[in-house]
Amino acid sequence: MIELQLSEQMRQWRKQVSLKKVIGLVPTMGALHEGHLSLLKKAREECDVVVVSIFVNPTQFEDSNDWAIYPKTLSQDISLLKTAGVDVAFLPTVDQIYPEGDHFQLTEDSLSRLFCGAHRPGHFRGVLTVVMKLFHLIKPHQAYFGEKDFQQLQLIKGMVEAFFMDIKICPCPTVREADGLALSSRNSQLTLEQRSQAVELHKILQVSPSASSAKSVLSQKGFLVDYVEDYQGRRLGAIRLGKVRLIDNVIL
Ligand code: PAF
Repeated sequence: MIELQLSEQMRQWRKQVSLKKVIGLVPTMGALHEGHLSLLKKAREECDVVVVSIFVNPTQFEDSNDWAIYPKTLSQDISLLKTAGVDVAFLPTVDQIYPEGDHFQLTEDSLSRLFCGAHRPGHFRGVLTVVMKLFHLIKPHQAYFGEKDFQQLQLIKGMVEAFFMDIKICPCPTVREADGLALSSRNSQLTLEQRSQAVELHKILQVSPSASSAKSVLSQKGFLVDYVEDYQGRRLGAIRLGKVRLIDNVIL
């Protein structure tokens, strides 16, 4: 597996890839788990060359402390990527992605303001900006994203359409623990007690007759609920457990 840190190295590598090869990109923020591995597996099956980026993007964290404490497990991640048969790991630093500072940003002014966007101002601007930068550097034909971040997935699909980009966005189903908790890098920040409570989010989203009843049941159980809303055939929800924010969605 080739490891690249510099944006210029990435551009040079990309220039020499044969035009006949299908390139798949899995963008990540590291702290890899089975959910990421399912994206890698799908990319490996469908593409000739698989590139994974690991970059904890500061511009999508509205709180710089949250960015600083985001789990980082780089050496473990690299071993997982090698085992998964990844061809290229792109591991840039912040100044490689934002050489100009972050003066140029990509804004969406509708869906990005709802749901998670209403509670994390600027979050999706950061996500769309970094994904656009990665798309320009790596020029993948296909890119893989998890359905757990359903709103993010819809926004990235919308961005690719709006800017006429020839990139196929490939959604991958949420991977769950045996008790139903959606896998997330943030789960490692939960205490044992919070971990046992966290499973309620998925259960309640699934069994409640409406979004508003799911929201009241979660609140009655003592969770701080950011939102529960139905959108495009899914019920989306976000709760806070101490300092950890968890999101999930179920198909209605
Ligand atoms: O879903 C994530 O891990 C991040 O939001 C992404 C898409 C890698 C952009 O930083």
